[in-house]
Amino acid sequence: MMVSSVNGKITRGDDPEVTHWTSPEDSALFKAFKKNFRLIVRGSKTYEASRKQLTLTKGTLNVVLTRNPDTYHDDAIPGRLEFTSESPKELISRLEKKGYKEMLLTGGSDINALFLQAGLINEIHLTIEPKIFGTGKNLFGELALEATLQLTDIKQMNDRGTLHLVYTVAPNL
Ligand SMILES: NC(=O)c1ccc[n+]([C@@H]2O[C@H](COP(=O)([O-])OP(=O)(O)OC[C@H]3O[C@@H](n4cnc5c(N)ncnc54)[C@H](OP(=O)(O)O)[C@@H]3O)[C@@H](O)[C@H]2O)c1
Repeated sequence: MMVSSVNGKITRGDDPEVTHWTSPEDSALFKAFKKNFRLIVRGSKTYEASRKQLTLTKGTLNVVLTRNPDTYHDDAIPGRLEFTSESPKELISRLEKKGYKEMLLTGGSDINALFLQAGLINEIHLTIEPKIFGTGKNLFGELALEATLQLTDIKQMNDRGTLHLVYTVAPNL
């Protein structure tokens, strides 16, 4: 689940704080949607950007991808907040064996690209704010990627024209 500008930027320039430009409707939707998941995965840069607002709910495992899990040793809370250098495939395979059936991926750009390239994203929930930013991170980082999507839902969330779109991702051929 992500929020972007009309031109696909998920950050406004160098500012890591997304809520500086996103709508209250999107923040509310994200907060509510997260409650449906027992497993939430994000990259370390996204973790750094959101760690102050991060609420660790009992029964929900938050996984952060980093090449240096030891750096975060003091932040880790087994079963609630874990850090790993596993590849997306290794991570999913391990967690499936533990009984997890669904995962919410919350970015950022680099981690989205890794999971899409590995064929591990099957649905995209994307809010598009009516903004254009000349610089900032893209929805997907620069990897060799191609995906075909099917729009399954679209809603206008406010009078300014914030849109929420849901796509399914066709399996990689
Ligand atoms: N608009 C939105 O919906 C939205 C959502 C999420 C995030 N964001 C914003 O996006 C920005 C972060 O995006 P980002 O693309 O810079 O970073 P990111 O995807 O959140 O995290 C990148 C980090 O993931 C780790 N990583 C990368 N490849 C890896 C691999 N193969 N194995 C294990 N770990 C790997 C590395 O961590 P280490 O450096 O620790 O090794 C890398 O620095 C933030 O500003 C955040 O606020 C926006």
